[in-house]
This record gives sequence, structure tokens and C-alpha cells, in this order.
Amino acid sequence: MTNKPRSVQEIKKEKRARQLEPTTPGMSRRNFLTYLGAGSAALAAGSAGVFTREAQAHTAFAGAASTPYPQQYAGYQISFEPIAPTDADELVLPPGYYYNVIRSWGDPVTSDGRTFGYNNDYIAYFPIDALEGGASSADGLLWVNHEYVDSRWVSDYNPDEAEESRTPEQIAAEREAVGGSVIHVRYTSAGTWEFVEDDDFNRRIDANTPIDLTGPAAGADEVQGATEVVGTLANCSGGVTPWNTVLSCEENFQGYYGEATGSDDESESDWYSDEQNRQPPEHYGWVVEIDPFDKDSKPRKHTWLGRCRHENVAINIAPSGRVVAYTGHDQEDQCIYKFVSKGICDPNTREANMDLLTDGMLYVADFANGRWVALDYENNPLFRDNGFKSQADVLVRVPEAAALPEDEEEDSPPIGTPLDRCEDIEIHPETGTVYAALTNNSLHGNFHGQIIRMFEADGDPEATEFYYEVFAVGGPNTGFSSPDNLAFDNNNNLWMVTDISTSGHNKGIYKPFKNNGIFFMPNVENMELAEAYQFASGPVESEMTGPAFTPDGSTMFLAVQHPGEESESVDNPSSTWPDGDMPNPSIVAIVGFAS
Ligand code: FEO
Ligand code: CA
Ligand code: CA
Repeated sequence: MTNKPRSVQEIKKEKRARQLEPTTPGMSRRNFLTYLGAGSAALAAGSAGVFTREAQAHTAFAGAASTPYPQQYAGYQISFEPIAPTDADELVLPPGYYYNVIRSWGDPVTSDGRTFGYNNDYIAYFPIDALEGGASSADGLLWVNHEYVDSRWVSDYNPDEAEESRTPEQIAAEREAVGGSVIHVRYTSAGTWEFVEDDDFNRRIDANTPIDLTGPAAGADEVQGATEVVGTLANCSGGVTPWNTVLSCEENFQGYYGEATGSDDESESDWYSDEQNRQPPEHYGWVVEIDPFDKDSKPRKHTWLGRCRHENVAINIAPSGRVVAYTGHDQEDQCIYKFVSKGICDPNTREANMDLLTDGMLYVADFANGRWVALDYENNPLFRDNGFKSQADVLVRVPEAAALPEDEEEDSPPIGTPLDRCEDIEIHPETGTVYAALTNNSLHGNFHGQIIRMFEADGDPEATEFYYEVFAVGGPNTGFSSPDNLAFDNNNNLWMVTDISTSGHNKGIYKPFKNNGIFFMPNVENMELAEAYQFASGPVESEMTGPAFTPDGSTMFLAVQHPGEESESVDNPSSTWPDGDMPNPSIVAIVGFAS
């Protein structure tokens, strides 16, 4: 039996003195590097209003031209001394960079007592004046995903030692610790970011929140006729729409209520065995849209984007005005998809765009032929011929639809190409090039992963053809392994965080990489192959997730997930980050970028 964890508030009492305390610099093994970016132009584009992500023509199929490095631009400066890998139990940053913790699990969020959820993942930053076309980099709303719980901390339940299943009270505590948070944050004169208490925007969404279904599967037999479902969970990464809503992706949903009704249950969670509160698995595995600016708005799960272990979603606007949403299925040998909306994005009326993700078409990527295959039940007999009953059925079982053979030949490949676990996808803000992190795939001996980039034909996100190339390959020679979340800064440099599984940290082939890190890849559109420089190292057994920048690039918000994940017990934690006593998932603000 484990002892009851001490109260979070108790433990934290005297620990907030961390503000602006410089972090321990890692040993430097490279020369000091200075990156100068095309700041003024990028900044102007980023400040031009709400609709700045117009697709821009890309020389499709031409490949990227290589230019001398480092690039020198006028204006904005990113300058840091890359750190060496370290196993320190700290968020290690280069000299001159600082962080402060904004919220940790258990901290207050709403004035009626709701608290910050566990295992923070994706972060989106919304300037507080975004709906008026502003781009404040000192005042904004953060959306934060809470992906899953460590029940030893959240519900005082140790699955390795317990002889009985969770009580209803323990399940209730876990339900409230997943989903997502909206929090209002402000930059302070002390150079830190603070949570704005008792603010009307602050909100928690969890596994109990009523959520509407939209699209073909809403009300369909495949979701037991539901038009409304109970809650969201497994919220991993996500994306932001040009109309300033957030998209939160339900990834490992099978761990809660299982994979599918009637199938062999893969769930190890007692949520499934609690018959009174059990929910149909088909209600999870979707992309959820939330309006962070309207506390009373009801979140929606858009079934046109398919049901799978969605890692993330990245949105672009085609020249036609249609919305294109790219999303990856993070599981071995699964696919990349894109949704193309039927409706046209209206840059002048926010309300007119709210239903754009409710109607369109979903495509799966066929990398062998460089084409997007429509998962169109009406117009492609393949689905009907293989037992699918409707468009809703195709969307609810989208991995099965994507795995259908192209033709009747015995060795016919599937219509969707199996990939090596697509984690994040990000779209280059100026060119529309699609960057995708394939984290690793132990089934094929791909232990370090790679980043690929896809070029849509004629630079049009709506295109049905694409070209792709491998842009960065993980391994000891490049310094990183297992790429996960990606983010572009306002100079269009690419930032990447790694997700080496914690059970492999500092062992075997993963030894050289030590703890998970953040890497900086400068000037990617002009590079044939990436150069990666380590910017940060996470606390013991953590994964750094959801990097998000303010529009001016001066702050990076970061979620530190599952520190001390391999702890033997709550009494013997392997990490005590951030407060020196217990490991606690937290979001931080990193400053020091602006010169
Ligand atoms: Fe939740 Fe695929 O990372
Ligand atoms: Ca991830
Ligand atoms: Ca991950």
C-alpha cells in the first residue's frame, strides 16, 4: 500500500521563489551561436490580424535550395549557447534564458474551485485582443491539454499494488484531471508570466463536460445514435484555427473505455469497469473544437476529421478559401490524413467560420504514389465492397478504412501508407510546407525517428498530389532521438521537442541523449537537411510538450509532462521538479529570446 500523497498546497507553500532564478547551464560543447532572423517582415505578417495564415505559393516538387549557413538577416535575434545533453533533474536552459512556473497540477483555475489538470501537453497562446485583430504578446489566454493521469498522485491508486479496482470517488478524481484548461496569463514587470486569478475566461473542460458531435457520425448508429457525448480525454496535441478557436486531439482514448464497443477491450483502466459511468469508446478519438473566448460555448467533436489516435491537427487555408486540416495517427504503422472543408473561410466574420469543420471530405496520404485518397463512401465502392455501411462508419473506423487494399491483387498495398508514428505536424507559415515528426517505430527497427516534409502540388493545400522528403533523421550523429511536438517561431525557425520513452532514458541506445530535450532547427526552408541545436533539457523522466510562442517571439510557453514518471512510489520520487519535493507536471514561460 502507498501512503496518501501530501496535499499539493501544503508542499508548495514556500516553493514559489523560483521566479526568475537562473537555471543550471549545461556543459557547452559547441561555440556560441547567434541566429539572426527576418524579424520585421515576419512580425508584420504576424500582427496583421486574425487571418494571417494564407497559403502562399510554394515551388512544388522543386525541393529546397541550400544556402550558406548561418543566415544573416536584419532585425530580430535568436542567440544562445547550445547545451549538452544532461540527466539533471531540472529544466536546463542556455545562459541568459529563464523560466517561471505558471500553473502546476492542483493549482486553482476557476473561482469556483476547479484546479489545473494533470500531465499538461499541448499549449496554444491566444492574444487577449485577437478577436479585434490584435497580437498582444503580454496578455493572453492559454489553452492547455491534460492528456492523462498518474493515478498514484491523482487518485491515490497504485495499479501495480492494488488488489481491488478503483472506487467511484477515485475514478471521479481522475475524470476531473484530464481534458483541458483555459487560463488567462499576463506578462509582469518582473519579467515573468503570471496566472490571472478570478478571471472570467478561466475554465476547465474535462471527461464530464457535455460535448456535441458534428458531421456524418453525429446521431449515427456507429456512435449509438448520440449527438452529445460525455467529456473529452487523452488530449494530446492540437492546433489553432484562423478564427481563434483551439482544436484538441484525443489520442490514446483506448486506455479509458476501450477501443470499440464489442471488441477485445484494450483498456487497463477501471473507467471501463465502472458500469454506471462507462461510456461508449466510439465517443472518443476525435478532434474537439473549443472557443477559449466564450466560456459558455459548448465544445464540439468534428467527426469529419475521423476517429483515430489523433496526435495533433494543423490548419492551412487554400487559395480557394477552403480550410485544410492535417492530422496524424500516432500509432505504429498508421497514417496521415487531411480534411478539406466544403465551406469557404470568411476572413471578416468569425461566426461564419464556426461550422467549417462540420462538412467536407477526409483524405489519407498514399506516400508511395504521392497522392491523397478520398475516404469517400458515396463515390468509392471500395468501402461498401469491404463491409462499411456508411460515411459515418468509414469515419468511426478510419484506420480500418485506410488499411483497405488498393485493388484485389494479393500483395496490394493499403490506400493509406503505414508510417512510423506521426506525432506533430506543423505548416510553415510562409510556404505551406507540411512538416511532420515521425517519432519512431520499434516494429521496423526505426528507434530514433525522423522529420519529413510534404510539398503539396502547385503549393495548393487542397491538392490531391504531393511530394515528400526526409528532412531530419534522429540518431547520435544528429544529437536527437524520437521527435515529437514541433513549433515555428515568428522567424520561421523550427523548434522540436523529443519524446524518448521514459523507460529508455539514459539506457542502451538512448544513453547519449540523456533526458528529453528541446531542439532548434534554424532557417528550415533554406536547408536541405536540418541542423539541430539543443536548447533545453527536461527534468528526470519528463517530456517537454506543446511549445508555443507569443506573436513577437519573446516568450516560449512550455508544458513539462510526467516528470518522475518511473518513480517507485510517491514516497520515493525519481524527480522533485519543480518545487524540490514532489514531481509535478507544470507549464512554464521561458523568456530571454528578444535581444
Ligand atoms: Fe501524446 Fe503521441 O503523444
Ligand atoms: Ca505528443
Ligand atoms: Ca508523445
